[in-house]
Amino acid sequence: MSGSCDYRCSKVKNKQKVQCTAEVPKKDGFAHFMLKEIYEQPQAFQKTLQGRIQQGKVKFEELNFTQEQVKKWDKIYIIACGTAYHSGLFAKSMLEEFLGVFVEVEIASEFRYRNPLLDEKTLAIFVSQSGETADTLGALRKVKNSGATTLAITNVVGSTISQEADYNLYLGAGPEIAVASTKAYTSMLIMQYLLSIYLAQVKGTMPEQKKEKILIALQELPEKAQQILAQKELYPEIIQGIKNAQSLFFIGRVFDYYIAMEGALKLKETSYIHAEAYGAGEIKHGTMAIVTEETPVVAVAVQKSVYEKTLHIVKEVADKGVFVLAVVEEGDTEMQKWANKVIYIPQIENIVSPVLAVLPLQLLAYYTAVARGCNVDQPRNLTKAVTTE
Ligand code: AGP
Repeated sequence: MSGSCDYRCSKVKNKQKVQCTAEVPKKDGFAHFMLKEIYEQPQAFQKTLQGRIQQGKVKFEELNFTQEQVKKWDKIYIIACGTAYHSGLFAKSMLEEFLGVFVEVEIASEFRYRNPLLDEKTLAIFVSQSGETADTLGALRKVKNSGATTLAITNVVGSTISQEADYNLYLGAGPEIAVASTKAYTSMLIMQYLLSIYLAQVKGTMPEQKKEKILIALQELPEKAQQILAQKELYPEIIQGIKNAQSLFFIGRVFDYYIAMEGALKLKETSYIHAEAYGAGEIKHGTMAIVTEETPVVAVAVQKSVYEKTLHIVKEVADKGVFVLAVVEEGDTEMQKWANKVIYIPQIENIVSPVLAVLPLQLLAYYTAVARGCNVDQPRNLTKAVTTE
C-alpha cells in the first residue's frame, strides 16, 4: 500500500508519487469536520468541474479513449464499497442510457469473491474516496490481467487504487477527515455525470441538446447547493421527529431511491439509529408490516417521472400516523398536505437534482448525531479507510 493519508499531499507525475508537506486540516470554526465538509461542497463541486467542461464538451486530460475503444466495450462494471457504491448506481442509469451498454454496479467485497465475466470488451470502473479500501483494491487486482480496461475515481492523490488502475480521475474534493463521507460522495456523483457524458461523446451516442442541458445544470450546482446549506435553522426542529426513533425508513424511486440509500447510511453511521432504504414500491412487499408510529419515514421525491408514485406511498404511511419528512423541489404544494415536515431544494434540471437532494439528508444525519451526543467525526467501530479485509 502506498502510504496515503487524508491530509498529506502528494503529487503524481507519470504515476511516480512525490510526497510534499501540506497543512493539517483544521475545523475552521465548525464544530466538527463533518459539518465543515458538508459546507465545503460548493467549492468541491467547482474543483471537480474545473477545466472539465470546455466549449460545451466534457474534456478529460487524463483520458485518451478512441471511438473504437469505447465502441468495443459491451459491458461496464462499477465496483466500490459503501457510499462510493451508492454513487455508482447513478452512473449505471446514465451509462446505460447514454451509451447503450449494459452496466452492473457491484459491491467490491462481493465482486472479488465471485467469477465475473471479464475480457477485453469490459470496462471496470473503481470508485473510492481513499483509494485504499482493501476490497476495492482486491477487486481491481482481480480485474487486472483479464484484458479489461480499468479506470479509477479517487480523491487521494497517489493512493494505491489510483496508481494501479490503467486510468485515474482525481476528484479534487479536498481532504475528507470525517468518517462519514459527504463532499467526496457528491463529487463522485458529479464526476460520474461527467464521465458518462464524456464516454457517450466519444462514442457519438449523446444527443447534443441533452448534453448541453446537463452541463449547464452541473455548473449551477455550487450556487444552488449554497442555498440549501444556508437553511441550517430548519434542522433543530426537523430532527425532533427523528432523534428518538430506534428505527426508520428512507424511501424513493430510482434516483431518489439511490439518494435514500445514502441518507440511510449517513444516519446509521453517525447517529447509530437503525435506518434502511427501500424503493418506495418495494416497501409494500413485506417491510410495511413494521412501519408504525414508532418508525419515521424519510421520503425523497424530487424525480418528476416517479413523483406521483412516491407520493402515493407517502399518503399510505401518513395514514398510519407515521412521522414523515419529505425532500421535494421548490414549487411543490402537494407533499406538505401529507408529510409532517418538508425540505425544499431549488429546482434544477431533473437528472442532476440528486446532487442537491442529498444535502438535506447529510445535514439531517449530522444534526441528529449531535443531538444524540454521538462522536460525529469518528463513529464507533468505523475507520475512514477500510484497509483490512
Ligand atoms: C461513508 O460514509 C462510509 N464511511 C463508507 O461507506 C465508505 O464510503 C466506504 O468505506 C468506502 O470508502 P472509500 O470510498 O474510501 O473506498
